[in-house]
Order: sequence, then C-alpha cells, then structure tokens
Amino acid sequence: AEDHSHDFVVQETKVKRLCKTHKIITVNGMFPGPTLEVNSGDTLVVNVKNKAKYNVTIHWHGVRQMRTGWADGPEFVTQCPIRPGGSYTYRFTIQDQEGTLWWHAHSSWLRATVYGALIIHPKENTSYPFTKPKREAPIILGEWWDANPIDVIKEATRTGAAPNISDAFTINGEPGDFYNCSSKDTTIIPVAPGETNLLRFINAALNAELFVSIAGHSMTVVGVDAAYTKPFTTSVIMLGPGQTTDVLVNTDQPPARYHIAARAYASAQGVPFDNTTTTAILDYVCSCSNKPGLNIPPVQATLPAFNDTNTATAFSTSLRSPSRVKMPSPVDEDLFITVGLGLFDCPIGKTCGGPNNTRFASSMNNVSFVLPQTYSILQAHRQGVPGVFTSDFPAAPPVKFDYTGNVSRSLWQPSKGTKLYRLQYGSVVQLVLQGTSIFTGENHPIHIHGYDFYILAEGFGNFNAKKDTAKFNLVDPPMRNTVGVPVNGWAVIRFVADNPGVWLMHCHLDVHITWGLAMAFLVEDGVGELETLEEPPEDLPLC
Ligand code: C2O
Repeated sequence: AEDHSHDFVVQETKVKRLCKTHKIITVNGMFPGPTLEVNSGDTLVVNVKNKAKYNVTIHWHGVRQMRTGWADGPEFVTQCPIRPGGSYTYRFTIQDQEGTLWWHAHSSWLRATVYGALIIHPKENTSYPFTKPKREAPIILGEWWDANPIDVIKEATRTGAAPNISDAFTINGEPGDFYNCSSKDTTIIPVAPGETNLLRFINAALNAELFVSIAGHSMTVVGVDAAYTKPFTTSVIMLGPGQTTDVLVNTDQPPARYHIAARAYASAQGVPFDNTTTTAILDYVCSCSNKPGLNIPPVQATLPAFNDTNTATAFSTSLRSPSRVKMPSPVDEDLFITVGLGLFDCPIGKTCGGPNNTRFASSMNNVSFVLPQTYSILQAHRQGVPGVFTSDFPAAPPVKFDYTGNVSRSLWQPSKGTKLYRLQYGSVVQLVLQGTSIFTGENHPIHIHGYDFYILAEGFGNFNAKKDTAKFNLVDPPMRNTVGVPVNGWAVIRFVADNPGVWLMHCHLDVHITWGLAMAFLVEDGVGELETLEEPPEDLPLC
C-alpha cells in the first residue's frame, strides 16, 4: 500500500460560465477540483490550506474512516471549521472499498464549487471483477449559479424562503451545448471504436436528483458508492446527490459524436423544478471516413420526464450485491425515522418568506437538527464537554400519523435540537426511513457518514411492518452510503455499528440539511484497541 500526499489550497478563482465571469471558491484554482486516485488499501494525506474568506472543511464522501473520525470533515460535527488563513491535514486509509467516491466542502453551500472525484482502483495485485476497461473517465454532475451560492443560501436563511434554484446543471463543470455560450466549452469524453470504457458518474449537484443517459449506447452498471454490484444493463441511470454509479459502455455504434445528457428527476409535487438538460459529448476518436463532421450536431439522448418516478424506482430496485451477503442479524436497534419537510411559525412581529408567512424547516422524527458553535460534537464527546449535544434522539416519531396522507397542519412544526442517538459498539442497526408528505412529499437522498449499509427494501406509502418485512432482501441487497427514500415512501437499511465516533446522517439535498434534515449517531468505543477512536490530530481546528 502507498501513501499519497496532496496540497489543497482553498482559494478564490475567476471562471467564466453562461457568458459571465465570476469569482468562485475552488481547490488549487481548478473547477471541478483535483481528481484523487488511489488503490484500495492506500493512505491519503491531504493538507488543506484555507486562503479563501469563508470557513471551510473537506468531507471525503463515502470513505468509511475506520477509527479516524477526526478526518471525516462535516463542520461542527467532527471538527471546527478551518478559518481563513488556517490549515488542517486530513489523514486516512481507504480499506475494503473499490470504485468511485468523491470529496466536497462540508460548510454552508461551499460544496457548490468545492468538489472533486476520488477514484479507488482495486487493491494492488488484484483486478476488477469485470473485463478490464480500455479507458476510464470520471463524469461529475453539478449545478451552477450565476450568483454566489453562499449569498443564495444566506438570503434564503434570512427570510425563511426557499433558495433560488440554480442556473444550469453541469458535467465536469461545463453546462454543455444546450445552454447559452456554452457549446465551445462542452466537456468532451474521447473514446475509440470497439472498446469498453468505464464511466464513473458522480452526482455532486446541490439540490437535484439526476437522470443520465447516453445517445445510442446502453450502460452496464457494475458499481455504486464504491461497492461492486451484480452487472445489469440499462438505458438510463438515476443518481441522488452524493451517489456514484460506475458503468461500462461499449463503443459499438457508428463513429460519431453522442450526447451524454443529464436532467433533474424532480419528484416533489408543487415545487419548482429545473427541467433543463446538461450535456457532454462522447466523441469517437478515429480516422474513420464515415464520421460526421463537426458541423453536424451530436446525436441526442432520450431522457425520462422530470417526474418519471417509475423509471427512478426501476433503476434503484435493480441494484444487487454481486453475491450472497452475510446479513448482520439479529437486529439490536430497530429505529423508525421520519424524514421530511416542515414549516416554522414566523417569529411574532417579523415577516417571513416561506408559504403563508412561515419559515421552511426539515426534520427527522420531528427534530430539526442544529449544529453547535463552540465545540465540534466529536470533541465534546471525547472531552466530556457538557451542553453541546444531547443523546435523546427518539427511536420513533413522537406521534404516529398517516405519514404520506393529508397531514394535519398541527404536525408541521418540528422542534429544534442537537440530538444524537447512542449506539453500542458492534450493535446491529436497522433503520426504517419513512418519508412524509408534510408540505410536500419528495425523494430524500439520505447519507450516513462513516458507514455503508445494505438497502433491504423500499416502497411507497406508509411502511407496514407486518407486510413489508416479508419483502426484505436478506440475500443480495445492494450496499451504499446514500439511499434515495422514495417520494411519499420508505426505505429500510441495515448496518453494524463497528466504527466508533460521531456520524452525521442527513438528506444530501443541501437545502434540506440547511433546514435541519439531519441527526447524528454517537457510536461508543469497543473494548479492543482496534475498536476505539484514534487520538485527535494535533492540528485539529478548534472553535
Ligand atoms: Cu456528501 Cu455530509 O455529505
């Protein structure tokens, strides 16, 4: 195994998109940021220097961080932010994970522009469980605002309104040839005829699930979230923010230029959606005489409609682990957690920008998560600092109701708190994540830090323990770090609490985490030396 050292300088950089030049926050002046490549088993040492005017942290999305929770990154959860002028070195080893992950800022909305790919090749002297591809390319889906995204969310937080939606979707930082002044800069993925290519899709968009398809080509899905899957072939994939999907694409079509296209899957009812399409070009590089000239537009892709829940469901329910898994059981902790929106009443004498003079809110089990300010939660836990968090996150919603029906207005307002749920080292945890229709139902991509989990089942309506337990796939369920809880539906996941520390669980739509759709698990140390959280690094930023 190898050590890889990198310097990340967080800085302001001028870039031009949609005909306008902006100053955005980047890493090393690159947008998207640098791609990191390692073999499974390697160690990453990344020194982050903050030369920007905002607080920043970097999160290594999906990296399990076994015993190295201090390197996980969410601000005020595992560390205080790196202040302007400050620095911090993240040090961690990638164990037993292969495929595609990514890294992103985990402060305010900085991840709109501060993100990049993390490619994990097979462990030394091993190979892919599929034919070795001739070429590989990361394909990062993102969102672009003409305004400064930090200002967008600051303004929305001030008024309580929903933030402005983005001005474009992007592929590898470029909006593509359907947008104004973007055709010259459209991302080109060069391929050769008759080859197998591995495309590593990452959804780094802030607030949108995305459908992706490639004109004239099918895709064979071989991995998600840095775990291999049983290969299956499809014409469209769907990724929630935070999720990755590795696909094999055979260049078996007549030489030409083909669109790789992505568009929002906006499951929300009555919520404005952006139905614009971002494109990149799969470009057959060859001296073939039959390739159409550059003045012929690329072959266009077909995408599902923005509200095509059937296609989204067909994709997520096709995922399987490559072989029979050893399902952890029996379950020690069986939690039922509602995930959904809400509305706060407007403080008396104030005007608020949410519907009917309210402020938008979000919650899990009716608790809207609040980040502490004076200590990170992990530090407070380790040092026994009182008053930073409480350990009373409820194992079930405070009141039962018809979660996906017409919910009485009196149930719309959550409480606020920094509430954690304590787990004993090694306990088997099962979560029923139940979407609600409060204000509006929506697909919620729920991500857990520090863990991968099996997705046992998903469905629509209210979870029914009697009926739905029979549907659990205990044989070959897919493993992921982010699960899409279907609109007005539920998903059930299971994992073993074998990584001590404090681990955030949240909706990966950034607007929802801003509104409080989060909680955290506190996983106790075990007894053995390899069952305890490491000591904090000396340069850990303090508040
Ligand atoms: Cu992709 Cu809390 O993160």
